[in-house]
Amino acid sequence: MAFIVCCLLALAFFIDADAQQLQSNISLGSSSTPTNNSSWFSRSGLYAFGFYKQGSGFAVGIVVAGIPQKTVVWTAKRDGGLVSDNATLLFTRDGIALNSTQGQILVVASPVSVSSASMLDSGNFVLYNSSQQIVWQSFENPTDTLLPTQALLAGKQLVSAKSETDQSSGFFRLIMQRDGNLVQYPVDNGQDGGVQYAYYASGTDGQGSNVSLTLGVDGRLYLHNGGTNIQNLTDGGLPTRGKSYLMRLDADGLFRLYSYDLKQNGNWSIKWSSSHGDRCAPQGACGFNSYCVTVGSATEMVAAIDCRCLPGFKYVNPGNQTSGCERNSSIGDVYNYTIQELGNTRWEDEPYTVLSISDIEDCKNSCLEDLNCQAAVFTGQSCSKQRLPLRYGRRVTTSNIVLIKEVVISFTSPAVDANVPRGRGKKGRIVILIIGVSFTVSGSILLVISVLVLWKHNAWAYKRMNELNGAAEWNEDVAPRPYAYEEVEKMTNNFNEEVGRGASGTVYKGVIGNSQKLVAVKRLEKVSAEGDKEFQTEMRVIGRTHHRNLVRLLGYCLEGPKKLLVYEYMSNGSLADILFTPERKPYWEERMGIARNIARGFLYLHEKCDTQIIHCDVKPQNILMDEYMCPKISDFGLAKLLQQDQTRTSTGIRGTKGYVAPEWHRKMPVTVKADVYSFGIVLLEIVCCRRNVDWSLPEEEAILEELAYHYFESGELGKLVGDEEIDRRQLERMVKVGLWCIQDDPSLRPSMKKVLLMLEGTVDIPIPPNPSSFLSTI
Ligand SMILES: *[C@@H]1O[C@H](CO)[C@@H](O)[C@H](O)[C@H]1NC(C)=O
Ligand SMILES: *[C@@H]1O[C@H](CO)[C@@H](O)[C@H](O)[C@H]1NC(C)=O
Ligand SMILES: *[C@@H]1O[C@H](CO)[C@@H](O)[C@H](O)[C@H]1NC(C)=O
Ligand SMILES: *[C@@H]1O[C@H](CO)[C@@H](O)[C@H](O)[C@H]1NC(C)=O
Ligand SMILES: *[C@@H]1O[C@H](CO)[C@@H](O)[C@H](O)[C@H]1NC(C)=O
Ligand SMILES: *[C@@H]1O[C@H](CO)[C@@H](O)[C@H](O)[C@H]1NC(C)=O
Ligand SMILES: *[C@@H]1O[C@H](CO)[C@@H](O)[C@H](O)[C@H]1NC(C)=O
Ligand SMILES: *[C@@H]1O[C@H](CO)[C@@H](O)[C@H](O)[C@H]1NC(C)=O
Ligand SMILES: *[C@@H]1O[C@H](CO)[C@@H](O)[C@H](O)[C@H]1NC(C)=O
Ligand SMILES: *[C@@H]1O[C@H](CO)[C@@H](O)[C@H](O)[C@H]1NC(C)=O
Ligand SMILES: *[C@@H]1O[C@H](CO)[C@@H](O)[C@H](O)[C@H]1NC(C)=O
Ligand SMILES: *[C@@H]1O[C@H](CO)[C@@H](O)[C@H](O)[C@H]1NC(C)=O
Repeated sequence: MAFIVCCLLALAFFIDADAQQLQSNISLGSSSTPTNNSSWFSRSGLYAFGFYKQGSGFAVGIVVAGIPQKTVVWTAKRDGGLVSDNATLLFTRDGIALNSTQGQILVVASPVSVSSASMLDSGNFVLYNSSQQIVWQSFENPTDTLLPTQALLAGKQLVSAKSETDQSSGFFRLIMQRDGNLVQYPVDNGQDGGVQYAYYASGTDGQGSNVSLTLGVDGRLYLHNGGTNIQNLTDGGLPTRGKSYLMRLDADGLFRLYSYDLKQNGNWSIKWSSSHGDRCAPQGACGFNSYCVTVGSATEMVAAIDCRCLPGFKYVNPGNQTSGCERNSSIGDVYNYTIQELGNTRWEDEPYTVLSISDIEDCKNSCLEDLNCQAAVFTGQSCSKQRLPLRYGRRVTTSNIVLIKEVVISFTSPAVDANVPRGRGKKGRIVILIIGVSFTVSGSILLVISVLVLWKHNAWAYKRMNELNGAAEWNEDVAPRPYAYEEVEKMTNNFNEEVGRGASGTVYKGVIGNSQKLVAVKRLEKVSAEGDKEFQTEMRVIGRTHHRNLVRLLGYCLEGPKKLLVYEYMSNGSLADILFTPERKPYWEERMGIARNIARGFLYLHEKCDTQIIHCDVKPQNILMDEYMCPKISDFGLAKLLQQDQTRTSTGIRGTKGYVAPEWHRKMPVTVKADVYSFGIVLLEIVCCRRNVDWSLPEEEAILEELAYHYFESGELGKLVGDEEIDRRQLERMVKVGLWCIQDDPSLRPSMKKVLLMLEGTVDIPIPPNPSSFLSTI
């Protein structure tokens, strides 16, 4: 015992001498095995590089070996599997080779020929070339841990371990983005890799492209750009003598600062925790259809959590709370639906439709009658209908009520639909490993190994039911109301006050009878000759499409050739009015907010509503501003109603010159990416507060999209906004998004989801090519 204490004191001494970077030389040809105690130790003996025991086998990495609580701080090829006790590590000119029954692989591959290696007392394992220059170091390739003096450099990330006892890649990441923001989100197989579910951000975007996160020797965790300190995550100032610190992105998704008292043979103790130690904060703390609840004292550094199933659901994997939940019922020959309620929870999934309903019974009925609806969130004012699975749920104090549609087997009444497919007995879970390649700004290739977890659950059965029944029924009570022509005449005082005129028709101001509610009535011109039935169908599609960034359709009139639409009235005119009227020009922050809101509206039209809607005529005149200056997209869903010659021929292109995507002219298929193109033009207009085409300016400045690329390329973006003072990084970000959107080749343009993430600053934006440099070849 006395020996151990002495030994640790000695250790402490060496650690204090950290600055000397003591090193133990490892020479070519050295080897190490799991069993003969031949790890490569740092000089003080605190750190060791070599095999460590994991589960039933061994992995290779760096361990804090000089303390009883052997702590893994780095792992080589963490997802490469374990080896058995007859494996060997060899130090060769190419790096560190692992020889096992699976053959020989390099676990540390040097970019150039190496001559020696060293396990430094800082915990950094380094390889040198023949002139003693570092050519590879573990500090620059972290897994889930940072040690004192180590930095997480711009463009690098930490990925949590799967569990305390399994160092392979887990479910959460912490990324030091090149835009300066430090962001956390779950590893997700989705298109955007989970970024839409970010749950932590330092808010330091715009602080430079080379911001890094460093752990100081005194426990200070801080963001800096070179010598410039940007943010202290922890205060530091902790004793350095006889202490060791580390920061780890833990398996539960929080990152924590730990300290270890080398003198007292203690345990690692938590000094600081991200998200105030709230273990329910990480999106994905609980599996699908379950919600996270903290149990025990909230003041404890490590509060325990429970993952609870939605009512009527059970754990996919009994005994494993985090496995997610599935329905505790199977669909039999006879079935019926009921609704279960669950209060005070929040979920991250976007609803496919949001209805303004203030009575919970109406919300329940609306969900019961809608085959698409599997759950609904009722807030008191609105009823948001959703499909399963529900994701990233947690308990909150707001009074949201989640309504879960439950399938019950009924033994009394006959089935509603005899064609319902029978349930399949066994529900399985498949885990697939995929390797994706993504390019970062620097052009280097980042290999991201993500774990894709697919769940099979009862949801498929509901989808099948929909297919069988054709289009789902909607609720007439929320569909736009039909009006008689006479009523509309009265509403508008015989079309007395014209407030706008566009390609699709003329707009009049009106008032609905007793309520004094202002409305805008649009008289459609050149409506295609298709039948009334199609018109009504379109009205229902539009009427069902609710989002805060879309102008709401209240009703319509259909009497022979007379076709009118009644919309809510937008008191602040259109985006064009405010952008291009110098006195009304909004501040930069307001403009960025407007851009994000418009993007949200389009994201909803493109991806989130029942029927995908391509707008086809995106321009500032079609974006209206409500009384709070919140933008709302108008005229969506009309593309299908307008006459063919207006939509496709070269003479009468649907859409507006200057905003239409090039594929319109080339008679190529038009997709949502056409809207993305127009949005890009509008975004540039929002940035510069000028029209895309303005021949009153000198010829070389007349076309905004060309000018924007020119100034972007020459690094003179400031010239785009005149004397307005705008943060250079933010300006650059907005322009980059705009330039990506207006790429000639539709496939290069980002999806609206990606656009929104880029505008929000949660993802890095690569440098856009010249918009016309990749002419589309489709
Ligand atoms: C490690 O080796 C290099 C040359 O191979 C030598 O210069 C250096 O002094 C050695 N360091 C130690 C601590 O032995
Ligand atoms: C293993 O190595 C450590 C440190 O180098 C030493 O203290 C210990 O006695 C060794 N154990 C055996 C079994 O060789
Ligand atoms: C451990 O095993 C390796 C390879 O078998 C050998 O080269 C090395 O000398 C051994 N070390 C000790 C301390 O026995
Ligand atoms: C190494 O160990 C594995 C599993 O214990 C065994 O299957 C294999 O034959 C061993 N290889 C050698 C060369 O001993
Ligand atoms: C790797 O191990 C196998 C058997 O385990 C052995 O035959 C072979 O020589 C080893 N290779 C090296 C480079 O040590
Ligand atoms: C060692 O690496 C340094 C830095 O990368 C380089 O300047 C030097 O030329 C290399 N020396 C040899 C012998 O390759
Ligand atoms: C970025 O920062 C790191 C660490 O602060 C530094 O080593 C590197 O040289 C910087 N890179 C550039 C391009 O400034
Ligand atoms: C961070 O902490 C250091 C040391 O206490 C201090 O010098 C620095 O001003 C702090 N930086 C910020 C941005 O608060
Ligand atoms: C360290 O932690 C373990 C497990 O939590 C506990 O059993 C042990 O008593 C702790 N040791 C000290 C010195 O606090
Ligand atoms: C699942 O349903 C069965 C039968 O209806 C019931 O006995 C059981 O308690 C339910 N399990 C859960 C976890 O709700
Ligand atoms: C519980 O389920 C999750 C998700 O399927 C899985 O990652 C984890 O390893 C499981 N835990 C245990 C103890 O089986
Ligand atoms: C479904 O359940 C409700 C309430 O339990 C009941 O009123 C209704 O008759 C049932 N319908 C069928 C078809 O079983």
